Amino acid sequence: MPRLVKTQTQFEGRFEETWTLVDDADELPPWEAETELTIVGRPQPRQDGPRRAAGAARYTVDVQLPGMLHTAVLRSPHAHARLAGLDLDAARAVPGVRGVAGPDTDLGMSGRPLLVAEPQYVGQAVAAVAADTPAAAEAGLRALAASFEALPFSVSMDEALAEQRFRGEPQEILRGDVDAAMARADVRVEFALETPGQLQTAIEPHGGVAWWQDHELTVWASTQGMFAARQELCQRFGLEPERVRVIVEFVGGGFGAKQGAGPEALLAAALSRQTGRPVRVVNDRHAEQLVSGRRAATRQSVRLGASRDGTLLAVDADALLAIGVAGPLMPVLTPAMTLYACGDVRGLAFPLRLHLSPTNAFRAPGVMEGTACFEQAMDVLADALGIDGLELRRRNHADVEQESGEPYSVKALDGCMTRAAELAGWADRDGLRARSADGLLRGMGCASQIWWGSGSPPAHASIRLGADGTALVVTGIQDIGTGTLTTAQIVAAEALGVPVDAVVVRGGDTGPNLYGPVSGGSMTTPSVMPAVRAAGEDVRRQLLDLAGDVFEANPDDLQLVAGRFRSADGALDEPLTAVTEKLGDATISGSGGRGPNPEGRAVHSFGCQIAQIAVDPGTGEVLVERIVAVHDIGRVVNPLGASSQVEGGVLQGMAFALTEEYVVDPTTGAPVTGTLDDYKVPTIADVPEIVVDFVQVPDAVASSIGAKGLGEPPIVPTAAAIANAFAHATGRRPGALPLTRARVIEALHG
Ligand code: MOS
Repeated sequence: MPRLVKTQTQFEGRFEETWTLVDDADELPPWEAETELTIVGRPQPRQDGPRRAAGAARYTVDVQLPGMLHTAVLRSPHAHARLAGLDLDAARAVPGVRGVAGPDTDLGMSGRPLLVAEPQYVGQAVAAVAADTPAAAEAGLRALAASFEALPFSVSMDEALAEQRFRGEPQEILRGDVDAAMARADVRVEFALETPGQLQTAIEPHGGVAWWQDHELTVWASTQGMFAARQELCQRFGLEPERVRVIVEFVGGGFGAKQGAGPEALLAAALSRQTGRPVRVVNDRHAEQLVSGRRAATRQSVRLGASRDGTLLAVDADALLAIGVAGPLMPVLTPAMTLYACGDVRGLAFPLRLHLSPTNAFRAPGVMEGTACFEQAMDVLADALGIDGLELRRRNHADVEQESGEPYSVKALDGCMTRAAELAGWADRDGLRARSADGLLRGMGCASQIWWGSGSPPAHASIRLGADGTALVVTGIQDIGTGTLTTAQIVAAEALGVPVDAVVVRGGDTGPNLYGPVSGGSMTTPSVMPAVRAAGEDVRRQLLDLAGDVFEANPDDLQLVAGRFRSADGALDEPLTAVTEKLGDATISGSGGRGPNPEGRAVHSFGCQIAQIAVDPGTGEVLVERIVAVHDIGRVVNPLGASSQVEGGVLQGMAFALTEEYVVDPTTGAPVTGTLDDYKVPTIADVPEIVVDFVQVPDAVASSIGAKGLGEPPIVPTAAAIANAFAHATGRRPGALPLTRARVIEALHG
């Protein structure tokens, strides 16, 4: 029976009470640690791997439609300016131009304008031209002959702070009496860190192709959230969801920056309505670097007070965030406020409004950059106390979630530390440093990780199974490159009792109206997989009933295992098709939904990473030799996909520590990291040895499959672990990341 219940939902640390539709039939006994599973937990290559590898996968940027128009976007060269001249008619007269829009053009949509006459950052869109060819669109752009009157701007955090120019409310967290606790402490330390703006740098740029036909709109979008995109399109254009279809077959990365329709798909939709043609809007790489989002740069400081035995008594943290003209305040204080047990804490975060493009989510937004500072402060404290860094962290284990006081569902952080220490050879880290005889300075550093990752309802799945015994699973998943469709294939096969090859999973299309959450916030596995499992069990029950009819047996005595019906006494052993072939053209269908979140328990993921690095004191180069990453994400459904997730997160964290930095010219307000040459993301040549392991304690409280989310956790501790290894190797702790060669040379010899 369907019911509506209130439950707490969660996304990247933002909690909400919401009504959720639940069905008793979806409530299944959780897969516990002892439950024997035959497919879940075994490495499985992703189902679309060959298509991706062969170049046959169709991404949004590959979509070509008959009569499709190409769009060029005019972007502000100024950090703040007023449009002084724009000749739309001249652009319309250019051969091949079919549609032109400027700030005054009625695009038939509500909400924040896509094209503005007073741009507030370099790269802000001012006008757009749609034409038969990209060249004609560019010619149309030139014909606009735009001119600007430059206005004052500020990209300085100091100025913004002095003038109290905030983008949203500052955040204050207070528990207990931090000043009194600090006064009581035997040891007090302080550490300050500047962290860089970091660009998500998805290889597939942001883009959308839109096609209005009569009163229906179809949009191909490079998005992490096809349902969020649909909702945005509906709201902006006043459409019913049933008349909008968002398709996202393959996505070349998003990392947080593609959570809705985005200005590209919105603009494509507006221009498609204006021209009556399909319209493509795709960022070129330069636009992608300028306006598609980033992790905000920060300036943080942390003061810690502890007793002689290492008990943390006071945590006092503050952060300035370099937000652009828009962008949320990410949970940068969370690590300091919740990673370890401490009753007396104060956190202050100020989102500064600068004349820069909007900031947005980037894998573990806030928490990763907060960890980079806080976990270094913990090492400073460990040094001051003369206590081993891992030991200090252990002594301050948080048994309950520090903000709510709720017990954790499962917390295996201690197990992660133990395992990581073994794998890294932590006990001999001083020996490693002493032994370096090749002129390089070696060191080892650790950091731990906290993140949410419970997932949340709603999420739905349906399965249809026909005569040949193949199950078609339909989900609301958009697979952004992580392999989540394969995760669904594994879970469906397990629940059905059929081999993996007998399951086909589809997602990436809002057409079936089966909802799934945005592929972000480490949401997909813990949100969608319980729904997939429920749908699978639904179909399996029906199959057993049908088998009872066909074999004249009691369904309760039958099992479906590895695609065969078997009786308890072993007398019956028949293939699935012995029943399904009798279906003819009929199909069996089943459905499943994600139930509510547990009450009174905090569901989080944990982990510990240990970095081993070598520093060249001559060149200032930091070589990451090895990263050991051990995480607690509950049950691991696909070890192969999971280790890939960890490797990707570690690489992005490593790049944050060493090479990636969004740099703005203070005299113009223009980012100078406008190409992939100027902005150093790691390539295959930079990949260190990454040792991945999981402490698998299935979390039966979190969901019926026992898995928590993994998307974000692996990026969280990497930069802190590397910076701590740098301090161990060199005895220096620079006050800014990334540890570029210049910064390292200055730290060592300056
Ligand atoms: Mo979020 S940064 O899209 O996982």
